[in-house]
Amino acid sequence: MRILFYGTASYDRESFEKELPAYPGITIEFTETNLSPLTATLARGYDAVCAFVNANVGAMTLEVLAGLDVKLVLMRCAGYDAVNVGMAKSLGITVTRVPAYSPEAIAEHAMALAMTANRRIHKGYIRVRENNFSLGGLVGETLYGKTAGIIGTGRIGAALCRICKGFGMTVLGSDLYPNMKLVEDEHVIDEYVDYDELFARADLISLHAFLNKDSYHMINDESIAKMKDGVILVNTGRGGLVDSNALIRGIRSGKIGAVGLDVYEEENDNVYQDRGDQILGTSITARLCSFPNVVMTSHQAFFTREALSQIARCTLDNALAFEQGGEFVQGSQVC
Ligand code: NAI
Repeated sequence: MRILFYGTASYDRESFEKELPAYPGITIEFTETNLSPLTATLARGYDAVCAFVNANVGAMTLEVLAGLDVKLVLMRCAGYDAVNVGMAKSLGITVTRVPAYSPEAIAEHAMALAMTANRRIHKGYIRVRENNFSLGGLVGETLYGKTAGIIGTGRIGAALCRICKGFGMTVLGSDLYPNMKLVEDEHVIDEYVDYDELFARADLISLHAFLNKDSYHMINDESIAKMKDGVILVNTGRGGLVDSNALIRGIRSGKIGAVGLDVYEEENDNVYQDRGDQILGTSITARLCSFPNVVMTSHQAFFTREALSQIARCTLDNALAFEQGGEFVQGSQVC
């Protein structure tokens, strides 16, 4: 089986090449070019293509792939919002994804963002590099004894509940489908509460619900008004969970004390791109970055060696299963 890997960076190549010897029937060629209707023609002669979260796997791309007899699209990520699933189905193209890879990696990054923003580590680091050993403006909050509010207590949210318990925090959860095992067996959630109670009681709020029409802009002017003064807000879920303009108003008013963002509205066009020598056409990211109590990263919460290995193994297992008519990794077949 020959697979063309689109949109690859050095770390993709490294992690897949490391796992490849265990899959003797599979050959991979890598291209930095991302998958789009225009670049889909590069897949001529390949059996499958592999793409990442920022690819364009819309109707036109899929039509080109089908015309080249490519029957398999391997998404090396969990989300598949980039794929037109209806079109893939109608063209007889199988699509797979990687349903879960190291939820702890994302939860650990969420806590790193919370701690960095709260304790102003990003400011302290720059100061010390410049021989400025003063502490003005760097004061933070002790998390021990405080309350964490975790919205979305699935795989990643649960991992963060465990971390927060380790910090000695009271942990509140909010989820459409509460997982009572986290309360009764693991004791890492003290109580499930509704959003309003979570907003009213939590000192640290972290978002881990998936994005849909119900959760879109769940953090808005109204919800921010219900939060405690000085609340720490972290988003590693999806940018659309937070109304960015409301967030900026909340920071400006002093209501929100610290913010850590790995995902944000406007990220899609920029994610994983070096735009260092360009003028960005929109300003939300720049405005957020201008605040001393905001720390932002570019969708890197998943980015650990363990997660990359897991992504490679799951993707190659799915390729093998497709070729041999076996079972896909549980939860990975999109269509
Ligand atoms: P999961 O499916 O295990 O958990 C999601 C949870 O959110 C479920 O328990 C669900 O019931 C709950 N939920 C859905 N809508 C809700 C709502 N409106 N209010 C409250 N709870 C709601 O998913 P997992 O693996 O924990 O991932 C969570 C999110 O993290 C993903 O949807 C994805 O957007 C994001 N993610 C971010 C990454 C990054 O690198 N920043 C990497 C991987 C995932």
